[in-house]
Amino acid sequence: MGFNDFDTVALDEEKNALAIIDQTLLPGEMKMLYLTTQKEIWDAIYLLQVRGAPAIGVAAGIGIYLAAREIKTDDYDEFLAEFEKAKDYLDSSRPTAVNLSWALKRQEQVVLSMKGAPVPEIVEALHQEAIKIRLEDIAVCKSIGEYGLTLVKPGDGLLTHCNAGRLCAVKYGTATAPMYLGHERGYNFKIFSDETRPLLQGARLTCFELHEAGMDVTLLCDNMSATAMRNGWVQAVFVGCDRVAANGDAANKIGTSMVALAAKRYGVPFYICAPTSTIDMNTPTGKDIRIEQRKPEEVTEMWYEKRMAPEGIKVFNPAFDVTDADLITGIVTEYGIARAPYKEAFEDIFRKKAENPIF
Ligand code: MRU
Repeated sequence: MGFNDFDTVALDEEKNALAIIDQTLLPGEMKMLYLTTQKEIWDAIYLLQVRGAPAIGVAAGIGIYLAAREIKTDDYDEFLAEFEKAKDYLDSSRPTAVNLSWALKRQEQVVLSMKGAPVPEIVEALHQEAIKIRLEDIAVCKSIGEYGLTLVKPGDGLLTHCNAGRLCAVKYGTATAPMYLGHERGYNFKIFSDETRPLLQGARLTCFELHEAGMDVTLLCDNMSATAMRNGWVQAVFVGCDRVAANGDAANKIGTSMVALAAKRYGVPFYICAPTSTIDMNTPTGKDIRIEQRKPEEVTEMWYEKRMAPEGIKVFNPAFDVTDADLITGIVTEYGIARAPYKEAFEDIFRKKAENPIF
């Protein structure tokens, strides 16, 4: 059994477990993990065994259902108190991707809306909602892909940063959804994937999954994307996103804003692909987004045979940066493409979602 036989994140009904591909081992080793306890699920998110905003959301939706199954009481108030504890614990695993708290709040709504109902019925409702969150992700990413595909033409060069691919979601990914759909339809894109220091999600994950899918992919070091654009190789940039603020500022993997700046300089359209679950209207601007800081060893030691920086050197290692809204050509959602002014565009997108949900 190989990579294409497994989903990135799923509920294993027989094992009553969260089933994930361990992304820290790719591309060298394809290993599934079956996680049952809150601690195992928290660790998997924190350690990036499951990563990428939509996949983290789906994992949390399933994880909180599994945690609720273990709450041993028939009393609604006691159940709610234990549920809230588990929710806050899972929510503390990573701070930037809003999909984590989005999925947990969605499950919390299930519990609150069934106030006083028998606990087994509530647990079953959480089960159904977890399944729905996961299936919805597939439909949402496919729709993002369809909208994204309207922005490009066969033979185009498309650049991406980090992994907003199948490995960041259940299927299709977000930034890679137009690539997968175009590939199915014979578009013959030329994909450029930034390696994405320090954790190499671009080299290890994006190159791996797109190459497995049979696409034409070229790996770039992070300092090469401006050259690729200057050479005229790139007709559009598609990247994913961890949180979009109400004004259109978008947090994504560190290095994304540099790509956006280069794209502006060379007249290459720069698109953020984001499900509506990643748009956070409660966060006014990019300044209000909490950026995760990670350990220095990821920069000084990881991947090297021996340490490549002097002992005691200061290290700045933010996992994400914010791309200013004015550098973004459009934000591709499952309900259409939002363009500046973003606040109004998002209101329109959310109106469409309320009137005619795709799932
Ligand atoms: O630290 P990671 O690997 O979870 O960071 C992932 C990214 O920055 C992705 O680009 C983002 O989550 C979008 S995935 C649709």
